[in-house]
Amino acid sequence: MEERVRKIEEEVKAFLVASKEDLENFRLKFISKKGAVSSLFDDLRQASVEEKKKIGKVLNELKQLAEDKFKHLQEKLDSSPDAAGGQIDLSLPVVPNKVGNLHPLNLTRYRIIEIFERLGFNVSDGPEVEDDWHNFTALNFAENHPAREMQDTFFVEKNPDVLLRTHTSNVQVRLMKNQKPPIRSIMPGRVYRNEAISARAHCFFHQVEGLYVDKKVGFSDLKQTLYHFAKEMFGQETKIRLRPSFFPFTEPSAEIDISCLICHGKGCNVCKYSGWVEIAGSGMVHPHVLKNGGIDPEEFTGFAFGMGIERITMLRYSINDLRLFSENDLRFLRQFKSVI
Ligand code: DAH
Repeated sequence: MEERVRKIEEEVKAFLVASKEDLENFRLKFISKKGAVSSLFDDLRQASVEEKKKIGKVLNELKQLAEDKFKHLQEKLDSSPDAAGGQIDLSLPVVPNKVGNLHPLNLTRYRIIEIFERLGFNVSDGPEVEDDWHNFTALNFAENHPAREMQDTFFVEKNPDVLLRTHTSNVQVRLMKNQKPPIRSIMPGRVYRNEAISARAHCFFHQVEGLYVDKKVGFSDLKQTLYHFAKEMFGQETKIRLRPSFFPFTEPSAEIDISCLICHGKGCNVCKYSGWVEIAGSGMVHPHVLKNGGIDPEEFTGFAFGMGIERITMLRYSINDLRLFSENDLRFLRQFKSVI
């Protein structure tokens, strides 16, 4: 009897199944009540006690083998594309091939560049690992001024200090050194601060710096340029407001607010019920900074501004948590169409 069991086992293993019909034949031949395995069990009843023990075990294994094979083949056939009637429907639309899209911060960056390029600004770049001179000292930050404290950062080396830049303003003096006025440039890039991560702050974020140096550049040029930008970026009905402020590298300095896009000035939690949202710092370039850039402040004047790309993107798309930009959650990222 043992030999017969081995023979059926070989047959189960060798049985080829290519269709549902074959599978049904497999089931009838081996697994059904009148199948080979059942009849072996019938025969087993006549066997001696000793044989029952020995063959019973092998027979159970054979039964399991046949059932497993049946289950496996059934799943395979059910999930194959021609399971339904053995035909592929060529008229069905294809499954779309996901090619990805631009990150929302890049969408905003490109839009900012587009707006300023049309005003005659070019795009400049500067290092993220920076020396103290370009990030602070050349920008008129005094050695122990508290303004340095407000921009605490990560130091790569101490004495002489090498650090991760705290703002894109570090490109200003590099630009002045390399270029004669008129200078009209924007400088987008990543910046770093030693801050705890929350919905409103991160240890890195992105800014766009702007610099315009020429003869007779005045505060009205600054105001009109940023007003134009705000309208292009957020819609023609957008208003701006300038608030007096302090930056070591500008004099006078102003914070730029835009009218709240969410409540249109009525007051909501985005604008903290003021009707205004801050988007940039700005001012007239300090004469010390011009001098440090090798430009004569008697002959030339300039304005500068710096804005956060995250902030603008959050306003543009009503995003309420800064962390979403760097978590790489595809459910978030796929919502942005690559249209600038
Ligand atoms: N660098 C400033 C900051 O990160 C922003 C800023 C303010 C840039 C005034 C400027 C400016 O160019 O004129 O807070």
